[in-house]
Amino acid sequence: MAPAIEAKNLVKNYVTWERKGFIKRTRKIVQALRGVSFTVEKGEVFGLLGPNGAGKTTTVKIITTLLLPDDGEARVLGYDVVSEAEKVREVIGVTLSVEKGFFWKLTGRENLKYFGMLRGLKGSYLNERIEYVLGLVGLKELGAADKLYEEYSLGMKARLALARALLHDPPVLILDEPTIGLDPASARTIRELLVKLARSGDKTVLITTHNMFEAELICDHVAIIDKGKIIAYGTVEELKRKAADRVSLELIVSIPKNMLNGLEEKIVALTGLREVALEAIESGRTRIRIVARPGEEEYVIEKMLEWLYSNNMKVHQVRIKEPSLEDVFIILTKGGSRGG
Ligand SMILES: Nc1ncnc2c1ncn2[C@@H]1O[C@H](COP(=O)(O)OP(=O)(O)OP(=O)(O)O)[C@@H](O)[C@H]1O
Ligand SMILES: [Mg+2]
Repeated sequence: MAPAIEAKNLVKNYVTWERKGFIKRTRKIVQALRGVSFTVEKGEVFGLLGPNGAGKTTTVKIITTLLLPDDGEARVLGYDVVSEAEKVREVIGVTLSVEKGFFWKLTGRENLKYFGMLRGLKGSYLNERIEYVLGLVGLKELGAADKLYEEYSLGMKARLALARALLHDPPVLILDEPTIGLDPASARTIRELLVKLARSGDKTVLITTHNMFEAELICDHVAIIDKGKIIAYGTVEELKRKAADRVSLELIVSIPKNMLNGLEEKIVALTGLREVALEAIESGRTRIRIVARPGEEEYVIEKMLEWLYSNNMKVHQVRIKEPSLEDVFIILTKGGSRGG
């Protein structure tokens, strides 16, 4: 039996033109995918996880027949995405992270009617499906089914995009960052729905996400993609075992903008640890994560606090945590020297 989705050695290069001065331009090749392979089994929620620019959307566009690969192949339920693109389109429901193509002056329900008819659905079957998916994604409950699209919140737009993807009852859902930018309640509704659809036994769900927490919550298997390559694959538990012998330190700090440049290198030099990641979070704060070996944490925290205080930086929080998927990612992308 064919797996739900199979990608084999996908390669994609984008050609861009870089402006050099007023007229001169030089050709630049961006290697978006450098041989991406993975398999999604039927009935699972699969997460393609990676940071910005890793190649997630490019992979999704190839699998959903929106973009041709330069090399390699991909199949959905056994159908080739290049030579059998029509068949593939019949069996997939898709949402892209930057959702365009809804009509602003139509209501959610009217939009679904239009897209359902484009799909060849009609009559009472179409109406039944529309009612069903509007209920499923919670737009009815929100009283938003008959609101104009232009009045929709981001959460409502995300729900409508999912409703449209489900309209023709496809066995495979391929969703690019389905919860990006959503408030926690909308994100939770969508996550719960995706799990429910997969557990009901008749849907396979592939999502992309840069949110490790989301992957931990809902994915049966995860493939981590970085710089156009899959660098790890497994269940969340299997991946977390890669960090089993580590501790995770987290500091929330206010750092002046002029000190952000080269900060990571600075922390690496200061602590002697390479597994460091920075993330800008709300209200100008920075989250510093350092993956350490048990026994190192006291020394590392001491060093960090000493340095932060002597540079007049405000420290809001210091925590020692169990390793998470995020730490696995840090270890895989930054580690190496200590044989971890
Ligand atoms: N149309 C394009 N032209 C040129 N380069 C592109 C194009 N689309 C993507 N890229 C580049 O290809 C690489 C992979 O991009 P892609 O959008 O697939 O990443 P992503 O994992 O979806 O990132 P994000 O989390 O930001 O959505 C990046 O370096 C990106 O800048
Ligand atoms: Mg993307």
